[in-house]
Amino acid sequence: MCAIITGSASGLGAATATLLAGDGARLVINYASNREGAEATAERCRALGAEAVVVQGDVSRDEDCKRIVAAAAPWGRLDALVNNAGITKHVEHDKLDGLSAEDFQRIYATNTIGPYQMLRAARSLLEAGAKASGRAAAVVNVSSIAGLSGVGSSVAYVASKGALNSMTLSLARALAPLIRVNAVCPGYIDTPWFTKGRGAEGAKQVRDMVEAKAPLKIASSAEDIASVVCFLAGPRSSNMTGELVRVDAGFHL
Ligand code: NAI
Repeated sequence: MCAIITGSASGLGAATATLLAGDGARLVINYASNREGAEATAERCRALGAEAVVVQGDVSRDEDCKRIVAAAAPWGRLDALVNNAGITKHVEHDKLDGLSAEDFQRIYATNTIGPYQMLRAARSLLEAGAKASGRAAAVVNVSSIAGLSGVGSSVAYVASKGALNSMTLSLARALAPLIRVNAVCPGYIDTPWFTKGRGAEGAKQVRDMVEAKAPLKIASSAEDIASVVCFLAGPRSSNMTGELVRVDAGFHL
């Protein structure tokens, strides 16, 4: 398995890299600013028998996407690209003055354009992976229930993930049969995400609310969601493309 995981210094990206790591896996660990976190992820992967290369890069910048992908070029192939990097701004949906055009553009640049640019840069290596393995290479876009149901940290975030979902459908159609493109749409994930946006107390409130309201009474861990990301990234999902897979412990019910 040769794979790139964007934003893998922390949270879901780090958990996904760790789960993909195994004897013979070759992984590109990407970070924007948290070098220490990325090195720690890489060390965990190496301890599991993987080869792990750490590359700094901001997925909203096309030249950085090309540099991230270049780290996989010596392998001559990619089996999976996990577009996990994401950002938000926490603003109540009815506070329309809380979001500027720049907020929308900044969030869209990372959450929507980033995955597009990463896929564009990685396309030829993914196609080479498909030809070498005899089955389609996998792109997994880490989206959110925000993009399905309109709930989430802000209207700009919801709009960026909605766009990522519809882009997943068009790219799945356009890039078959050599590349599969699916999205995972998590509900809550217990990562640094909410602590960054709402502080420790705010994050605990969200966690407690999810655990109380989700039918399965689970506030999903990064590993819980990573297992679905890895399923979509690997051969067990080889007949799936263009799927938006909700993973929210039944919260939507
Ligand atoms: P996180 O904040 O730990 O991870 C996001 C990572 O992306 C960070 O390491 C960050 O540095 C990196 N990143 C941000 N902008 C970047 C850029 N331009 N280029 C490269 N890396 C960049 O939070 P978490 O929860 O692990 O988030 C991962 C993904 O999961 C995101 O796409 C997020 O939208 C999505 N998600 C998170 C949910 C949650 O409840 N935590 C729920 C649903 C979706």
